Amino acid sequence: MKKILFVCLGNICRSPSAEAVFKALIEKNGLENSVSCDSAGTAAYHVGERADYRMRQFGLKRGYNLTSISRPFDSKNDFDRFDYIIGMDRQNVRDLKNVARNENDRKKIHLMTDFCISKKYDSVPDPYYGGDAGFELVLDILEDACAGLIAKIK
Ligand code: 4NP
Repeated sequence: MKKILFVCLGNICRSPSAEAVFKALIEKNGLENSVSCDSAGTAAYHVGERADYRMRQFGLKRGYNLTSISRPFDSKNDFDRFDYIIGMDRQNVRDLKNVARNENDRKKIHLMTDFCISKKYDSVPDPYYGGDAGFELVLDILEDACAGLIAKIK
């Protein structure tokens, strides 16, 4: 089983969306028995909350049901439980590297946009304080990056 953890700041916008988009691809490819995923946040501001309402609405418009509940990244367990730990932006990656315990942990950390096939972005931009276009952009980038990721691990 390959296990993927998507990580952003609050775990209410970008990483829950990555989880939903990637789960749809797992199902489409019939990989339920060999690939799984989850999401977490580097900050604990929103622990226990559902994904942001706006993000859920924009997800639903594309057929993605965002069901995750925000939880903090847990460096004591998550580095052992997951094979790929994927940050949405460079700050997420830095924060993850800062809590990595050793080189083996560090090797699991990746930047989401490095899996993109056609989109040219160096991060999935935080949509929280912006308008509707930011939420659509998150989904555009995630659909591209998730396609690249599933092709890579398949
Ligand atoms: P996320 O977005 O990291 O994609 O879940 C954010 C959610 C909440 C906050 C920042 C970013 N916040 O500052 O509360």
